[in-house]
Amino acid sequence: MAKKVVLLPGDGIGPEVMEGAVAVLDRCSSLFDLDFEFEEYKAGGAAIDEYGEPLPEFVIESCRNADAVMLGAVGDPKHDDNPPHLRPERALLGLRKALGLFANLRPIIAFDELLESSTLKREVVRGVDILIVRELTGGIYFGEPRGFETTDKGRSAFNTEVHFDYEVERIAKVAFESARLRSRKVTSVDKSNVLESSQIWRTVVEEVREDYPDIEVEHVLIDNCAMQLITRPREFDVLLASNIFGDILSDEAAMLTGSIGMLASASLGSTGESGRVGMYEPVHGSAPDIVGRDRANPLATIGSAALLFRYSLLRDDIAQAIESAINRVISEGFRTGDIALPGEKVIGCREMSRRVVDRIEAFS
Ligand code: IPM
Ligand code: MG
Repeated sequence: MAKKVVLLPGDGIGPEVMEGAVAVLDRCSSLFDLDFEFEEYKAGGAAIDEYGEPLPEFVIESCRNADAVMLGAVGDPKHDDNPPHLRPERALLGLRKALGLFANLRPIIAFDELLESSTLKREVVRGVDILIVRELTGGIYFGEPRGFETTDKGRSAFNTEVHFDYEVERIAKVAFESARLRSRKVTSVDKSNVLESSQIWRTVVEEVREDYPDIEVEHVLIDNCAMQLITRPREFDVLLASNIFGDILSDEAAMLTGSIGMLASASLGSTGESGRVGMYEPVHGSAPDIVGRDRANPLATIGSAALLFRYSLLRDDIAQAIESAINRVISEGFRTGDIALPGEKVIGCREMSRRVVDRIEAFS
């Protein structure tokens, strides 16, 4: 049976990097004898332009009926002054919520060949291999009440950082299960010295931990974690964080690898279970400054296509074939601008995608 994949290229460099990922899916389809059926829609700013809203119901419906969703990026400065419900980012947040994608997995892997692209010292980042497990449908991103208000003290705006025990429990389980497949260590991030919402977070993580006696657990305060992430990044294995803390730490962690253009992500309703839709997208944004100039790095999106095979189609073998192709292209010295050192030859987004496609090999 054909696997249905909904493509949402989105805004900015989204369509450019998506092209590479689709070429990879096509290549894998012929190489591994799989059938894909693609449906493509606008999302974000492009959808505001085309349909008058960032995420129309029919797009959500199509995603609900898919095996997987691939998203490029959303965000367009021309919509920056729109009211909240008409901002491009709403498409992303709406999809995460509508599809129940509470678990966001962001692998942070430092490639040996790219160590010099990091602003950190080589010996600090060499061997970094972290999995950020970010809660994606709760916390301050979605908490109520939220809004603007004019009071007798002046204008104000407010949001609510709220965690429910069941939300913390299910994301903590994802972190512990993931740790079992890795180095068996979970670092849970919170701000429990100040916030009640973090206190319940820590309490529930401690409860879940009872079921995972084989996993080492440490709790680190977010401010301290931000510091440790650049002083001893190699000592992290699975990093478990709330929606907002995970958002911030993943951009910071991206810099360990030299470029956010390398970071893939998977957003799942549950892990390792087929039959549920997952969404795959690069961690980077729409990068309006380099749009349409063939300068984007497609590797984050291609890496996300690998995660699609791993988590939605349960084909770890194909995921690995794609990841090896990425590794090979990197070790052969091909670089987009974001990962090139001064003086190194730079290739475009299209050529980078083509090179990866050419390097995907059937298993022997
Ligand atoms: C991310 C992005 C999004 C987020 C934005 C675009 C809404 O920064 O996926 O990390 O904050 O989650
Ligand atoms: Mg972010």
